[in-house]
Amino acid sequence: MVQKTAVVIGANGAIGKALVNQYLRLNYQVVAISSVKLNVAHPMLNKFITDYSRDNIQDLSNRIARIYPGTAYITVCNGLLHTKNNMPEKKIETFDEAYFSALLQANAMTPFLWLQAFMPHLLSTKTPCVFTALSARVGSISDNQLGGWYSYRASKAALNMLFKTASIELQRRRCNVKLMLFHPGTTDSALSKPFQNNVPIDKLFKPEFVAQQLHELQTNRVFDGDVDYIDWQGESIEW
Ligand SMILES: NC(=O)c1ccc[n+]([C@@H]2O[C@H](COP(=O)([O-])OP(=O)(O)OC[C@H]3O[C@@H](n4cnc5c(N)ncnc54)[C@H](OP(=O)(O)O)[C@@H]3O)[C@@H](O)[C@H]2O)c1
Repeated sequence: MVQKTAVVIGANGAIGKALVNQYLRLNYQVVAISSVKLNVAHPMLNKFITDYSRDNIQDLSNRIARIYPGTAYITVCNGLLHTKNNMPEKKIETFDEAYFSALLQANAMTPFLWLQAFMPHLLSTKTPCVFTALSARVGSISDNQLGGWYSYRASKAALNMLFKTASIELQRRRCNVKLMLFHPGTTDSALSKPFQNNVPIDKLFKPEFVAQQLHELQTNRVFDGDVDYIDWQGESIEW
């Protein structure tokens, strides 16, 4: 039996790692890409290191598409919320250009550069491919009741718009791809660590649970030419 191939980008993050393990448990051929050397070995796992530069992203995606021409799932798990110098803004006065640029880079540009780089593959492959980026509910403009977190909200909203726009083009070009923007819910990770204090224990998900949900949702996608912006339960999120 031909094994399905799954590519996980940002594979050293909490959700990325759990997703790699989830696919391996299901006997997939897994390609894990990260900026750091991954401390995991498995006969079905192929690992690549990236610096997330445009050239490197293009080079790696070409190599991966050559080795695994029938990739079923590509998932970009990258994301950034806080940095050494900045926490999410509570006030307009704390908005910082460098922080905003870093979040735009990690949350919007990086996932879109991977989609761009895989385009030749997505246009030519006969294998339907679900291409997922990890978004967040706070990227929804209509759902924004609380305010704050300017840079994170705006970077995820930018990601959402890039994918919505891409879905229109991909449908026009009859590309055999389904785009998905996935909100994992509050998940125990380095990214959420500083904000976990007020989260009830049953609302703080384990990355393994989120990875299972994500995989389940990927397998159930309908290739209708639209992008799905959904949470871990598969519920649609208003844009
Ligand atoms: N955890 C939550 O509660 C939560 C809630 C809503 C949405 N999300 C979204 O879920 C995704 C995964 O988050 P996580 O909780 O697994 O966080 P995490 O454990 O901090 O992992 C995030 C990963 O993103 C990559 N990354 C970090 N900085 C980057 C940069 N400057 N440029 C490019 N890539 C960078 C790294 O991947 P490598 O080390 O492998 O290179 C890092 O391991 C993110 O998009 C996040 O916004 C998370």
